[in-house]
Amino acid sequence: MYNFLPIAYFQDKFVPFAEAKVSIATHALHYGTGAFGGMRGIPDPQDPTKILLFRLDRHCQRLSQSAKFLHYNLPPEKIKEAIVEFVKKNQPNTSFYIRPFIFTSDLGIAPRLHNIERSFAIYGIELGDYLSPQGVSCRISSWRRQEDASFPLRGKISGAYITSSLAKTEAFESGFDEAILMNSQGKVSEASGMNVFIVRNGRIITPGFDQDILEGITRDSILTIAQDMGIPIQERAVDKSELFIADEVFLSGTAAKIVPVTRIENYYLPESRPITEKLREKLTAITENREPNYRDWISSISILS
Ligand SMILES: Cc1ncc(COP(=O)(O)O)c(C=O)c1O
Repeated sequence: MYNFLPIAYFQDKFVPFAEAKVSIATHALHYGTGAFGGMRGIPDPQDPTKILLFRLDRHCQRLSQSAKFLHYNLPPEKIKEAIVEFVKKNQPNTSFYIRPFIFTSDLGIAPRLHNIERSFAIYGIELGDYLSPQGVSCRISSWRRQEDASFPLRGKISGAYITSSLAKTEAFESGFDEAILMNSQGKVSEASGMNVFIVRNGRIITPGFDQDILEGITRDSILTIAQDMGIPIQERAVDKSELFIADEVFLSGTAAKIVPVTRIENYYLPESRPITEKLREKLTAITENREPNYRDWISSISILS
């Protein structure tokens, strides 16, 4: 069960969450023609009258880019303005997750993106840990990640999540916590809603943008942090067998943050994970605004009325 934040943004207005409802004939429900974002916020540990959002501008930019695939011109500034107002109206007092999304809100049939009504909406939930911070076991999915030739993978498009859902449930039903999907070339792509990193010989390695991944914002943050910490990074194709012999494997995402992988199929990974832990501590400090060098990644919003 989720605790929803009390106010939603819907049809250009702020309304009680329970009143933000759509018809069963909504086009996007049938065709997956939506796109969404997801970002985390926390009350500032130093000043609870302020809310800290992590990489707000980058999230707004990605959603605006996703909107282009739905033929919807939604500037990042408009998304940002609505999110800031959303936070002020809700005054959250615990860690939360914001879900801004756009969808074809027309009623009626025929998959298309022209001559159609679209909507932009936002809601939020209270959110602690999405996956166990102690670590997760992963199955290699029998489902492959889509390829960009048939799906706009640079967007966070709703329809894509059928593959994530199949993979996650397949993993769950066979006793694992999470799924790692290969791409159509048989190389490692990503998890159901996270990017994948491995550590080998002190170097962190993650599949590049040419491996059919979502351009994760946490992934981007980790690569920057690692470089700043002097940890060598490599963005390249990763083979499945490298997962099994890696020194460390972790997943990254807004909801999951950084989560260690304890086991992949029947291969158990080492219990000592010095690089994962270092990165995790740093990322937490940054999101709590304790790292002056990364202040430009944090938007601080006053909720005093
Ligand atoms: C399929 C997929 N890959 C990767 C990610 C990680 O992206 P981010 O770090 O921007 O949350 C997500 C989550 O948004 C996702 O849904």
